[in-house]
Amino acid sequence: MILTVTPNPSLDRTYELPGVVRGAVLRATADRVDPGGKGVNVARAVAAAGHRTVAVAPMGGPEGALLARLLGELGIEAAGVPITGSTRVNVTLVEPDGTLTKINAAGPELSADEAEGVFDAVRSRSSTADWIACCGSLPRGLAPEWYAELVARSHRAGARIALDTSGDALTAALAGGPDVIKPNALELAEAVGRPLGTVGDVLKAAEELRERGARSVLASLGADGQLLVEASGAYFATARVDAVRSNVGAGDASLAGFLTAGGRGPGALASAVAHGAAAVRLAGSLMPAPADLDPTSVVTTSHVPLDRALTEPAP
Ligand SMILES: Nc1ncnc2c1ncn2[C@@H]1O[C@H](COP(=O)(O)OP(=O)(O)OP(=O)(O)O)[C@@H](O)[C@H]1O
Ligand SMILES: [Mg+2]
Repeated sequence: MILTVTPNPSLDRTYELPGVVRGAVLRATADRVDPGGKGVNVARAVAAAGHRTVAVAPMGGPEGALLARLLGELGIEAAGVPITGSTRVNVTLVEPDGTLTKINAAGPELSADEAEGVFDAVRSRSSTADWIACCGSLPRGLAPEWYAELVARSHRAGARIALDTSGDALTAALAGGPDVIKPNALELAEAVGRPLGTVGDVLKAAEELRERGARSVLASLGADGQLLVEASGAYFATARVDAVRSNVGAGDASLAGFLTAGGRGPGALASAVAHGAAAVRLAGSLMPAPADLDPTSVVTTSHVPLDRALTEPAP
C-alpha cells in the first residue's frame, strides 16, 4: 500500500471556453471537477496503476466532503483530517488551442491541532504502508520544518518516506533523511543555489542533496528523462515521446511509477520514466493505466551522459 500525504489539497475545477477576455462574462462550453494536489495526484496514479493507496489530507467544508467522495469514486481511500477551514478550489481555464490559465487559491490555514491531526492520521496507517509519499506545498500555519518532523516520526515508526516538494520545505526536510526526494530540474537548481545546464550538473546537485541528508534523489528532467542517484550508484533513463499532449502531473505519475516498482534501483527508475512518458501522452492530468505504458521505449543506463546539455536548462 502507498500512503500519500497532501497537506494542501484542492478541488480542481476546469472550464473550457472559446477564449479568455479580460473584463467580460465568459461562458463555459464544458466544465468538470477533479481531486487535486500533488499527493492526491500520486494517489490517482497509484490507483490507476492498479495498486492500493490511501490519501491523507486535511479536508474541510462542503469542498472537503466532495474531495473525499471523488477520491472514493477513483478507488482511493480518503483519510480526511477534519479542519475548520474549507478545502480550496483551484480554477483552470482551457482555450481551444490548449492554452491554460490557472487561478490557485492559497487554501485554509491549519491550526496546531489540525497539523497534529495530520501526523496522527499518518501514524495510525504507517505500519501497513510500503511507502509514504509526502507531496506539494505546505499550507499556511505549517512551518517549513513540518515535513522534516513528519519524516522523523515516520522513520521512528519504521516507514520509508518519499518527498516531493520545493523551496524551504524541501531544504528543511533534508536533515530528516527522506528515503527519496523527487525534485524537477528547477527545484533542484533552487535547492543548490546554482543553474543546471548539463546532466553532469544535475548529478553534482543530487550528490550535494544526498550529503545534506536525502538518501536517494530521483531528479526528473522533463523531456530529458530522469537521473536516479542512490547508495548503489547513479542511473539515467529516457523515453522518446513523439506527441506530447499534456505534461500536467507527469512528475506525480513518475513518482507513483517509481514507488510501485519498489522505489530503488534501475528497474524502479525505468518504471518512473515509463509512467512519466505515458502521462505526457494523455490529455490533461489523466494518469496512465498499465495498458498505457510502453516499457520497451525506455532506455536505462549506468553510464550517465555527464556532458549532455539539458534541453530545458534550469533556471
Ligand atoms: N516532453 C516530454 N517528453 C518526454 N517525456 C516527458 C516530457 N515531459 C515529461 N516527461 C516525463 O515525465 C517525467 C516528469 O516530468 P517533469 O520533470 O516535467 O516533472 P515535474 O516538473 O515534477 O512535473 P509535475 O510536478 O507537474 O507533475 C520526466 O522525467 C519524463 O520522464
Ligand atoms: Mg513535480
